[in-house]
Amino acid sequence: MINVGIVGVGGYTGLELVKMLLSHPAFRLNYVAATAGDRMLEALHPALLDLITFPVEEANAEAVAEKCELVFLALPHKASMGFAKELISKNIKVVDLSADYRLERETYEAHYCPHEDPENLPRAVYGLIEYYREEIRTARLVAGPGCYPTATLLGILPFIPYIDTQAPLFVDAKSGVSGAGKKLTQTSHFVTINDNIFAYNPLKHRHAPEIAEKIAKIHGAKMEVNFVPHLIPATRGELVSVYATLKEEIDPAEILEQAYGTEAFIRLRENPVDIKSVGGTHFCDIYAARNGRALFVSSAIDNLLRGASSQALAAANLMMGLEEGAGLPIVPYVP
Ligand SMILES: NC(=O)c1ccc[n+]([C@@H]2O[C@H](COP(=O)([O-])OP(=O)(O)OC[C@H]3O[C@@H](n4cnc5c(N)ncnc54)[C@H](OP(=O)(O)O)[C@@H]3O)[C@@H](O)[C@H]2O)c1
Repeated sequence: MINVGIVGVGGYTGLELVKMLLSHPAFRLNYVAATAGDRMLEALHPALLDLITFPVEEANAEAVAEKCELVFLALPHKASMGFAKELISKNIKVVDLSADYRLERETYEAHYCPHEDPENLPRAVYGLIEYYREEIRTARLVAGPGCYPTATLLGILPFIPYIDTQAPLFVDAKSGVSGAGKKLTQTSHFVTINDNIFAYNPLKHRHAPEIAEKIAKIHGAKMEVNFVPHLIPATRGELVSVYATLKEEIDPAEILEQAYGTEAFIRLRENPVDIKSVGGTHFCDIYAARNGRALFVSSAIDNLLRGASSQALAAANLMMGLEEGAGLPIVPYVP
């Protein structure tokens, strides 16, 4: 068994990692840390009672180095990079779920804060599995993509060569409330979001530069990405609708089949996708339609899994030479 750890285990993505690691065939959870390290894991997350008993420690790089070969950082951005830097210097493999290693330094600093680990930043591999699989296998540091960029990029990347890149790309996205983490805010308050839906940070959300940067890296296409996220009254799940203008009248189903026909965790749907059918799984469901040169691409993921923790676990599997799909959840929470 390979010993792994989680720092930031008290949050939503940390909990999802624990749940998957309970039955992982090759990883043993050997270290968990939260800001306050004086409790048992099952006290922090009562849902884990009788499933695991484990002491929660305060995050400490020495302890991680003694106990783990690989660690998942399920921390907010900025908190992650200080810790990742120390772990990498101790030769520990790191999968970071935050934004800290996802972007070029210039893009990161324009949208987040000054970068505190510029040395490791260029070595980080972007953890969008289907596009960076080979690089992830040999990586020591993987940056988990944002949840919205995951759903958006998986949907739109196969079409970029056929899209008029001079025309703006419109991305209309909807997320369940867990996308913002467990901290309560006015917008995530039950009374605000119940029976409600609204856009937030329209055209200025930090995931827009991430989407644009990766389209440019993967296809060499510089595009204006107009991204409008919405909050919906659901706990989890993300639905992304992309509107683009085609250069030519292609068959969208054929393009998707060419791109993903052999991918085990991408399901190509004949009808528009929905969040419930992917809830609790690592799947990304995609559907596309065309009217003349107008293209509509729709993709759905579970933000906490394919948008965060299961994508991180898939990367960890590859980094440790395991089957990509080891321990990944595939049975949806339906009905
Ligand atoms: N939620 C999603 O759908 C999603 C999707 C993709 C990526 N992400 C990214 O994944 C990361 C974790 O997200 P989340 O939704 O799990 O957030 P969360 O529910 O807010 O949990 C974050 C955890 O980090 C811990 N923490 C904060 N500062 C810390 C520090 N300085 N040292 C140690 N622990 C610290 C908190 O600990 P305490 O509980 O002990 O205070 C909390 O448990 C974030 O960077 C987020 O942007 C999230």
